[in-house]
Amino acid sequence: MGKLVWDESYSVGVNILDKQHAIVFEMLNNLMERDDITVRSEPLTAALTTLTTYAAKHFKTEEQLMKEYGYPKFNEHVKTHMQFRLKIIELSNEMLYHKESVPVELFAFLREWWSNHILQEDMQYKAFFKEKGLE
Ligand SMILES: [Fe+2]
Repeated sequence: MGKLVWDESYSVGVNILDKQHAIVFEMLNNLMERDDITVRSEPLTAALTTLTTYAAKHFKTEEQLMKEYGYPKFNEHVKTHMQFRLKIIELSNEMLYHKESVPVELFAFLREWWSNHILQEDMQYKAFFKEKGLE
């Protein structure tokens, strides 16, 4: 699986959020590069916990800004974050209980989700925040 490289095409125009997105990409790359990761391994659980904890922090930052500035698609956007959390729990459980192999499916989901979420959902607030003078 190729690396996720954060570049300007992922910029949502808000520094703190861009920074957090780039960190998420770094964390995903580190996770996917590890070769000591198997389904029931301690490192996988630890890396996933670190990632989901950071994701939660990031979602909170994003949602707080949306709330503060009255983003019209707030509820809709929060729902996508919630779906991410649920999907991670579902995939983690599924893999812990039913699979022995390295979780390619989980990595693929993470990679796809973050890339698509930023480019499709997050991008929708770019113009809104810009208009509000946020950078
Ligand atoms: Fe988001």
